[in-house]
Amino acid sequence: MSGTGVNWDAAEYARNSGAQQEWARELITKLGLSGRESVLDLGCGDGKVTAEIAHRVPGGTVVGVDSSEDMIRLSREAFPPSRHPNLRFQPGDARALDFDREFDVVFSNATLHWVKDHGPVLKGTARSLRPGGRILFQMGGRGNGTEIFEVAKLMTASEKWGRWFAGFQFPWGFYGSEEYAPWCAAAGLRVRRIELLPRTMLQKGTEGLAGWIRTTWMPYTERVPADRREAFVQEASALYMQGHPPDARGNVAVKMVRLEVDAVRD
Ligand SMILES: C[S@@+](CC[C@H](N)C(=O)[O-])C[C@H]1O[C@@H](n2cnc3c(N)ncnc32)[C@H](O)[C@@H]1O
Repeated sequence: MSGTGVNWDAAEYARNSGAQQEWARELITKLGLSGRESVLDLGCGDGKVTAEIAHRVPGGTVVGVDSSEDMIRLSREAFPPSRHPNLRFQPGDARALDFDREFDVVFSNATLHWVKDHGPVLKGTARSLRPGGRILFQMGGRGNGTEIFEVAKLMTASEKWGRWFAGFQFPWGFYGSEEYAPWCAAAGLRVRRIELLPRTMLQKGTEGLAGWIRTTWMPYTERVPADRREAFVQEASALYMQGHPPDARGNVAVKMVRLEVDAVRD
């Protein structure tokens, strides 16, 4: 169980996170690392992105923190200290960080939209940074996945599925710069850039799309009895594809919007 109340299947995530990895690689490039930094990766998932950062800082150290025990277990197995001496993983919640001026960089990819109240995250992050340290976060932002979550809305209101969604609330916090800039300032972080970036996520046909839904829509699927979950996933995927058929290569496009935040602790 993660700190945000859902169960992540780390192996399933490792198989179905090509899109997140692509976004992460772009984000890592923007760090302009010299190779000696100490870096915290917040919500490190299955650890493959964290390991890429560690590879870029041979003279530094990288810590991956995640609230899912299964993610941490898989990360430790896949990237042991014997082969990655500058990398370690530890369980922890982004809302309750207890580092004190340990890092030059706090990085986070595809994680923080799982948190609605960013105040504690940003305060803990600021405290974790050395003076002059920097944050670079990318997460789902305002307008993220609007078309595909419309499908979820239709399904959760339907006669067939609605009985399991009484009182259901949209699970993610997709924010814009108007909200995020003051939250950074309140935590003592000086904003250098905050922007919403439109991105198209491509999934390989029904199976690719179903894989992404199965892996990340747990706030929906965990509501449904276990023996009906796969039917829910397949129906969501098919319904979306009715309005968004695959291109000539078999790729299904999903419009996403990422919120990117670049700020420093003075
Ligand atoms: C979509 S995955 C992203 C993983 C990785 N950063 C990547 O780019 O592949 C989201 C991760 O955020 C973690 N997460 C969600 N809420 C969290 C929280 N409050 N504190 C720490 N980790 C959290 C989940 O356990 C999951 O591993």
